[in-house]
Amino acid sequence: MADRRLEIDGVSKRFGDVVALTEMAFDVRAGEIFGFVGSNGAGKSTTTRIALGVLTADAGEVRWDGRPLDLDTRRRVGYMPEERGLYPRMKVAEQLAYLGRLHGMSVPAAAAAVATWTERLGVAGRRDDEVQKLSLGNQQRVQLAAALVHDPDILVLDEPFSGLDPLAVDIMSQVLREASCGHPGRPRLASGDGGPEQTDGDNLGGTAGGNAIGAG
Ligand SMILES: Nc1ncnc2c1ncn2[C@@H]1O[C@H](COP(=O)(O)OP(=O)(O)OP(=O)(O)O)[C@@H](O)[C@H]1O
Ligand SMILES: [Mg+2]
Repeated sequence: MADRRLEIDGVSKRFGDVVALTEMAFDVRAGEIFGFVGSNGAGKSTTTRIALGVLTADAGEVRWDGRPLDLDTRRRVGYMPEERGLYPRMKVAEQLAYLGRLHGMSVPAAAAAVATWTERLGVAGRRDDEVQKLSLGNQQRVQLAAALVHDPDILVLDEPFSGLDPLAVDIMSQVLREASCGHPGRPRLASGDGGPEQTDGDNLGGTAGGNAIGAG
């Protein structure tokens, strides 16, 4: 258990002529927050998509606990996509409960998780509001709740802090740091634009022109 880690091992990806990643390699240990910065187009989102398994690498491998990612492991990942992914017309609580159910939670377990995370992220008062009626920052808090609701083993977040006010950055950072919520040993991989809050991770890596720089 102590040795569990998410390994990005020599991952390369091209889109036609565009080289998005060249032999990207880093590990995120259990319990570690790995912050991951790079300029626009550096390959951050591509890395998170490959880490989640929604995009296939041309070369290299992603492993969790020593084994290549399979469908079962993918279900154990909490993901916050760059394009976000909430249904604008669904109510906050309904939507989160639905996502929990999709991940195999029972109705009561999903409801309990929704109550916990909306409370923790400061959007409990908005549970019965449609997502589209929330401000951008509050939508983002709900998006983080969506990544956490099924109590994932691994968290992969693409620019979780973008568009947030300082208070929201604080709350999100705290939630991400808390070892006691769910899994003490959960590795967290978070990309960002290199703003001050991005130095918050236990470890910091970066991409430039598709190459990993100073990772680890
Ligand atoms: N589906 C795609 N088809 C073609 N090119 C793509 C695709 N996805 C990414 N790319 C290209 O790969 C490179 C890396 O893109 P990526 O989205 O991973 O960067 P990023 O670091 O997340 O940038 P940003 O900070 O703007 O979010 C870019 O040159 C981008 O244009
Ligand atoms: Mg991106």
